[in-house]
Amino acid sequence: MMINKITEIRDNIHIGKLYKYNEYYNHVNELNINEITKRPYRFDIINNLLTYLNKEDSYYLEIGVRNPNDNFNKIIAKNKFSVDPGIEFENNSVDFKVTSDEFFSGLKNNEFLNSEIKFDVIFIDGLHLANQVKKDIENSLNYLNPNGFIVLHDCNPPSEYHAREDFYNDLTPAKKSWNGTTWKAFIEFRKKDEFSSICVDTDWGVGIITKAIDFGNPNVIDNEFYEYKIFNEFRKESLNLVQYEDFINKLGL
Ligand SMILES: C[S@@+](CC[C@H](N)C(=O)[O-])C[C@H]1O[C@@H](n2cnc3c(N)ncnc32)[C@H](O)[C@@H]1O
Repeated sequence: MMINKITEIRDNIHIGKLYKYNEYYNHVNELNINEITKRPYRFDIINNLLTYLNKEDSYYLEIGVRNPNDNFNKIIAKNKFSVDPGIEFENNSVDFKVTSDEFFSGLKNNEFLNSEIKFDVIFIDGLHLANQVKKDIENSLNYLNPNGFIVLHDCNPPSEYHAREDFYNDLTPAKKSWNGTTWKAFIEFRKKDEFSSICVDTDWGVGIITKAIDFGNPNVIDNEFYEYKIFNEFRKESLNLVQYEDFINKLGL
């Protein structure tokens, strides 16, 4: 009995040391801490865009809200609408308690709001899987003002563990931090030259898509199979990743 206990303790120490001295684990830990300490936040960027538009009667839509105090309640637009099926937050006080697909379908059929509505900023932060984000972008474009902005959270995963597909697979060095595969949808969309796009290097990567401002060149990096290693090597070009100060200069604020 005693020998079994000692063996178990010895095994646990061995496993602990494997983590403690693993260079990948420690490197990702550093990347995680680095990203968490970046400022400003996503709501600062969204508010910068609303300030740039300078409209008294601005319209804002947020897809994926969770706790509204984290972002939604901090947005300065006059008219704000929110969509979330309530998967992650029990007190789901949003306007439309449905998935983004259900919301856009209802919007099209005049079941929600008015199918003629145009938003100035649409923040996509719902299900962080590339296929869903791609749909969210395409649907959002139908309801965006010609000079409006689509904003996407989590475009810049600092490691492949942050970019895992399954949120619940959290026995990785990224722990509970999760960006999913939003980056794939964003870099794919960035191939289109009829839109302009940029990613601000803060708060896990705040991607922006618009026709209003020329943010620079589209993505020309060849990454046919969306390999994380290629993305990491050409991260700056793939995302058009810029520092916050450069973004503010481009807005002329
Ligand atoms: C990362 S949280 C949103 C965080 C919030 N936007 C913020 O900035 O603090 C993601 C939210 O998306 C919601 N969600 C999950 N699947 C969704 C879907 N298909 N459509 C819309 N929202 C979804 C979840 O319920 C969750 O509350």
